[in-house]
Amino acid sequence: MTETAVETAERKLYIESYGCAMNFSDSEIIASIMGEHGFATTKNEFDADVIFLNTCAIRDNAEQRIRERLKHLRANKKQNRDLIIGVLGCMAERLKDKLLEEEKLVDVVAGPDSYRELPKLVAEVDEGGRAINVLLSREETYGDLNPVRLNSNGVTAFISIMRGCDNMCSFCVVPFTRGRERSRDPKSILREARELASAGYKEIILLGQNVDSYLWFGGGPKKEFKNLTEEEKACSVDFAELLGMAALAVPGLRIRYSTSHPRDITEKVVHTMAKYKNVCNYIHLPAQSGNSRVLDVMSRNYTREWYMDKVRMIRNILPDCGISCDIIAGFCSETEEEHQDTLSLMEWARFDFSYMYKYSERPGTPAAKKLTDDVPEDLKGRRLQEIIALQNEVSKAKNQEYIGKVVEVLVESESKRSSEEWMGRNDQNVVTVFPKANFQKGNLVKVLVESASTTTLRGKAIG
Ligand code: 5AD
Ligand code: SF4
Repeated sequence: MTETAVETAERKLYIESYGCAMNFSDSEIIASIMGEHGFATTKNEFDADVIFLNTCAIRDNAEQRIRERLKHLRANKKQNRDLIIGVLGCMAERLKDKLLEEEKLVDVVAGPDSYRELPKLVAEVDEGGRAINVLLSREETYGDLNPVRLNSNGVTAFISIMRGCDNMCSFCVVPFTRGRERSRDPKSILREARELASAGYKEIILLGQNVDSYLWFGGGPKKEFKNLTEEEKACSVDFAELLGMAALAVPGLRIRYSTSHPRDITEKVVHTMAKYKNVCNYIHLPAQSGNSRVLDVMSRNYTREWYMDKVRMIRNILPDCGISCDIIAGFCSETEEEHQDTLSLMEWARFDFSYMYKYSERPGTPAAKKLTDDVPEDLKGRRLQEIIALQNEVSKAKNQEYIGKVVEVLVESESKRSSEEWMGRNDQNVVTVFPKANFQKGNLVKVLVESASTTTLRGKAIG
């Protein structure tokens, strides 16, 4: 937030974020835009003049949580009749004006590409109306803004490198809520990275729905490299190049990124990771399913064998690279044998950890239009439990392999369990806890691992 905004701030804004890292990153952009217009953020919702819920629409239960939260906000509105409540982000984009009809409490509805309009939308509500803007953009990247770091531990920060998604996986609502894919100017990404370094941050996480398709060529909707003009090719920067540029721009900072796509990830990216010591050895590579027919109906554009080749490629170049995965249980028409293929892929790949979900049909998606959500709920539940049990077993075994080894941990915060311990992550993104001794937040500490659970390594600092 700028000095002037603080001085002139008369009104308070409370933002609550749901969903993915991209959404948390967007909330920091929203805080910046509102800050320029005299709104200071507050951590106390009952102190707020404006409450924004930055929402997620990825699964039905994400939307149900937000509906519940809106019910609770009635109490806030009772206490302060002038309180303005806004629903922002993916659920706002999905439901548009229906949200105003369904939730009488809501004053503002704004989609992910209309955040620059928020001060105007709030002003419209001040005039006595209700306001909505859900236009999606082909160009907006908010690249020129300085995000206000909300809820930050002061050690790690997100940098959004692109917006939207052009993949059209059949189950996914994101292309509809976040619009066309576009990449952000690398100059503004590197500027933000350097500013974070000057502000004392120690780790940046580059964010995009599919980072491997990042391609800067002057701005605008995504194009394939082969379709660029000579002029565009001359100024083009792909993801591997961006990663290398970031590694050199902030050599004292750790660099992570998310999310990779098995279809698009290249050797060039993995070689760049190998080349720069400050790029962490960790890749989030969602498989979604281990069966080629299911992958086909998901429109993922790769097969089980292709995915396995990518994992082999990564492990060849970076033998100690952490790999995590997303899995969907019980997608339309998935048979028992096909589910077994997912389990066998997980067993083969030995992911460090996975995010695992039951399939949730989203209205308007290709799967909702063309396929039948025909795996019964209890079967989906059983398959998911099998997937979770297997992943827990693998995670525990993999974590136990660290026992007796030394890992490098960036201290992020106090451990949740004890004020005597620090919590951080090793290079491969595994949470590691150790006694504080004289170390500080932001230190890179060598830790000898002494024990390990499914989720956490424990040890002692050795320097
Ligand atoms: N149902 C269940 N999981 C989904 N995901 C995306 N859409 C759905 C859906 N309709 C999961 C995918 C994706 C992650 C972010 O969320 O695994 O990688
Ligand atoms: Fe993020 Fe997707 Fe949820 Fe939108 S719908 S907040 S892009 S996870």
